[in-house]
Order: sequence, then structure tokens, then C-alpha cells
Amino acid sequence: MLAKHSKNKKISDKAFITSGKAKLAISKYGKENVINATLGVLYNDLEEIYTFDIVDQEYRKLSSQDLYGYASSITGDENFKTSVKKIVLGENIESNFPNIYTDVISTPGGTGAIYNTFKNYIEYGDKVLLPNFMWSSYKLISGEAGGGYDCYSLFDSKNNFNLLSFEKKVLELSEIQKNLVIVINDPCQNPTGYTLTEDEWEKIMDILKRACKKTNIVLLNDIAYRDFDNKALEFKNIFKDIPENLLIIIAFSISKSFCSYGLRVGAQLALSSSHRVIEQFREASAYTCRGIWSNVSRAGMQMLSNIILNKNKYLELKIELDKSIKLLKRRSDIFINESKDIGLKILPYKSGFFITIPFKKGIDSKVSLELEKKNIFALVMEEGIRIAICSIPSHKFKGLASKIKEVLIEIE
Ligand SMILES: Cc1ncc(COP(=O)(O)O)c(C=O)c1O
Repeated sequence: MLAKHSKNKKISDKAFITSGKAKLAISKYGKENVINATLGVLYNDLEEIYTFDIVDQEYRKLSSQDLYGYASSITGDENFKTSVKKIVLGENIESNFPNIYTDVISTPGGTGAIYNTFKNYIEYGDKVLLPNFMWSSYKLISGEAGGGYDCYSLFDSKNNFNLLSFEKKVLELSEIQKNLVIVINDPCQNPTGYTLTEDEWEKIMDILKRACKKTNIVLLNDIAYRDFDNKALEFKNIFKDIPENLLIIIAFSISKSFCSYGLRVGAQLALSSSHRVIEQFREASAYTCRGIWSNVSRAGMQMLSNIILNKNKYLELKIELDKSIKLLKRRSDIFINESKDIGLKILPYKSGFFITIPFKKGIDSKVSLELEKKNIFALVMEEGIRIAICSIPSHKFKGLASKIKEVLIEIE
């Protein structure tokens, strides 16, 4: 019955499957004896979902009209758009981003922002450029939008961002594609917790400006975890002197930064030096919104605007975010220090929800099996184990690195 293009659609979301196994193990062996490090959801040290008081209060205060009504427009409420610009680009946008046009389109989460971007900028059959360590949904979303993917190596042998590999792939694909969509997930990259330095960003932008001489470039910066890096770079320092055929789209989401995963609110924020490019972005994105999900949760957008457009409430949110950053830092410190002590190699973590332990290709199923025997449930990727430090209570970290090392020594 399926249409030809849908015949091979089979989703095997490893993170959700492993999380299901973890829940089963908890019911068998008890919560204290199981480590569930699978999902990118922040939990407190009692293993309950982490919430921000200000978000909870503002959401519960919404009127029936806001809770149950349609959004005022397909592309999002005006206050929401202003708020997203404020969160992402800061104040004084016109003076900080001279000669740059911007627009915001509301989407269901960051996923919607990524889909909308892929759908309208990947030519059918073309490849989107991704890092080899990545949030694997990018591949699926590209497939759903009619594209494929290619990868560059995220790190070089010294564990620095692999500019050479990035440049090689960018230039290679710019020779053969009319449009090239490139995903950067920064800061707090999923799954490594890596954050690019300002110098690396500058070099990336230089490469993209060179590639623009050959093809149109769409840089999609997925900032799903940005608020968990309190030293996040300001975009005004990196997005300047942008050629007309370099479109920057920032994928924004409230899932992580408002601890509001189920509200399904996000946005595309586009920046371009061409008015026409922004107009086309607005028109095509609105069309896709209407054709796929119609409009985004009015309640989620209103809650966000009520906080961001009120100085004191925004400050409260920042204070609560800061507490959660400190919690993640305490957890990552324990894991990183123990890893150093016992000689367990990890990929360069700076901040965020995840830490990755690399291993050689071809042993992933064995690694999953052996970890699960020890009641450790994590996302085992092709070349690494992603530990979601966001979901493990601090007291369960002691000894975790050692157990992982035992598994890898046994298999490698
Ligand atoms: C890197 C990254 N980008 C985007 C998302 C999308 O999240 P959502 O669609 O819930 O906003 C996630 C969720 O896990 C993610 O890890």
C-alpha cells in the first residue's frame, strides 16, 4: 500500500529503545541499581524531570484563549518572534548586525526548524553536510526532505575541531551542488559536548565565504543546547560581512532551554545580507508550515514571550538556567576526573548534556550488550558511547567511568 518513496521507511530510534530497556531493568533491579543515561532530558538528583519554576508558573497562569486557541499566525505570534530575536541575537540588533535582514518562523521544536530548512534548501537528492559524531535525527530529517548526507570528521588527531576535513568536504560538495546546507550544532554539541572557539568559528566562516564563490551556502546552526553554555559566543562577533548567497539559519528550541520538551516550540531565525533572500525564506517557510503542521502551540509561544519580554522574569529564568549549568558541571567534573585518573579516553567536552567515549568501529553491538549486563544504559553509536549526564543523578557517577573502561578493555 505504501507509496514508492515511503517503502523503506523504518525508524529504529536507539535512544528511545535503550531507554525502554532501562525502564524494564529498573522495574526488575530497582532504581538505585540501574544507570539510565539514554535521553537528552534534564533530570534532578532524585531522577525526576527538571523544571524551571518561572516556566511552570507562567505556563499555569495562561488564559484559556492562550492554552487552547490557535496561534495568531501560521509563522508565529509577533511577540514570540521578537522574543526569539532577543534571546538569540541580544539587544540592539540593528546596530550589532549592520546590513543584515532577519526573520523568524515558529516551528514545532528544533526538529521543525531543521525540517523546514532542509525541505526548502536541499535540492532533491543532494547531500547535507554533517559531522561524523552527530544527533542522528539529522540523517532522517534530510531523508524525509528528499536529501541525503555526507560527513566530515569532527575532530583531528589532537582532538581539535577538524578544520581540514571540514574544508575538504565543503569545497568538494560546493563543486557539485547548486546549494549546500551545512549543519553546525554549537555550542554544547550533541553527542560530544564540544563547543567551538571564536577562532574556529572565524575560520569556518572564512571557508564558507570562499565556498560561496562556487555555490549557495546555507549554514544551519542548531543551538538546541546554547543556554547551557554561560560563555556562549555572541553571534555579532561571527556573523558579519556575509555574502548574499550565504544564508544563516539558526534552529532555536525551547525543549532544553525552558525544560519544555513536550510543548513543541522552536523557530528558524534567518540572517542574510539580501532582502530578497529573506523574503523568499519567509514565503517558502510559511508554505511548508501550513502544509505540514499549520501552526505552533500558542500556549508555548505566549509563555516564552511573557518571560522574555519582562526584565525580572527573564532574569529569573537566567538564574534558574545557571543553577542547572552548575548541576551539569558537578556531574561532568566527577566523570571527567575519574576518566583522567583511570585513563579512559573521552572526546573533548566543554559543556552541555552529553559526554562521548570513543571506540573503534565495528564493536558497537558488543559494547551495548556488555554495558547492559552491568545495568548501564546509554546511546551506543557507531564509534562511541554517548553518556547523557543530564539524566544521571550526581551520586551515581562514582565508578561509572571505571565500569565503562572495563567493558571497552574486554572487547577492544
Ligand atoms: C542536537 C539537537 N538538535 C535538535 C533537537 C530537537 O529537539 P526538539 O525538536 O525537541 O526541539 C535535539 C533533541 O534532542 C537535539 O539533540
